[in-house]
Amino acid sequence: MLDSAALITPRLLLRQWQQSDLEPFAAMNSDADVMRYFPAPWSREQSDAFAQRVMRLIDERGWGFWAVEERASGRFVGFVVLHVPSDQLPFSPFVEVGWRLAKSHWGLGYATEAVQSAIAFGFQQLHLVELVAFTAITNLKSRAVMERLGMRLDSEFDHPQVAVESELRRHVLYRLRSPE
Ligand SMILES: CC(C)(COP(=O)(O)OP(=O)(O)OC[C@H]1O[C@@H](n2cnc3c(N)ncnc32)[C@H](O)[C@@H]1OP(=O)(O)O)[C@@H](O)C(=O)NCCC(=O)NCCS
Repeated sequence: MLDSAALITPRLLLRQWQQSDLEPFAAMNSDADVMRYFPAPWSREQSDAFAQRVMRLIDERGWGFWAVEERASGRFVGFVVLHVPSDQLPFSPFVEVGWRLAKSHWGLGYATEAVQSAIAFGFQQLHLVELVAFTAITNLKSRAVMERLGMRLDSEFDHPQVAVESELRRHVLYRLRSPE
């Protein structure tokens, strides 16, 4: 049976997390290519702790950090998030949409497909007026997802949580307004 937080797309299921996701989730988070635009890959402990936190968030709110499953195989693909961050950024307050997929599932259109359903949920069910996404300026794959989603490049900013000397500090901000 589907949990109440689930969203379905032609090829994917966005759902609450399961214990069986923890292992492929940790494998994804330890992959240097997946984590190239983050400060460092995650240990198994960091990955499990993150999964436990996001499970609680979905339980409490019914939405948030969805685990993404490939419907045809039941395999864990990655995660998609609608998130109200506690961090202060130059354009706060905002609701962020984000994504991370295991490398074996890149190049299939899965990120765009999954995020489209999260965005529709944000606009139609939560009545959000705008969503933002941001990433390191050099993360071209992620920027391509933003552009495929119809998001508009707004500006650049230095991410205050990224070290001043890091080449990942300069970020791009994209915005998407609700069609309504
Ligand atoms: C960002 C990320 C999700 C992008 O993955 P991706 O596979 O390039 O993006 P999509 O899932 O939207 O797939 C698009 C690609 O699938 C191809 N594709 C193949 N079949 C397709 C189909 N049926 N429908 C749509 N696209 C399809 C597209 O042509 C495109 O390929 P291209 O990049 O060669 O043009 C992935 O690189 C990732 O997880 N990176 C690490 C985490 C990260 O950086 N997250 C963002 C932080 S803000």
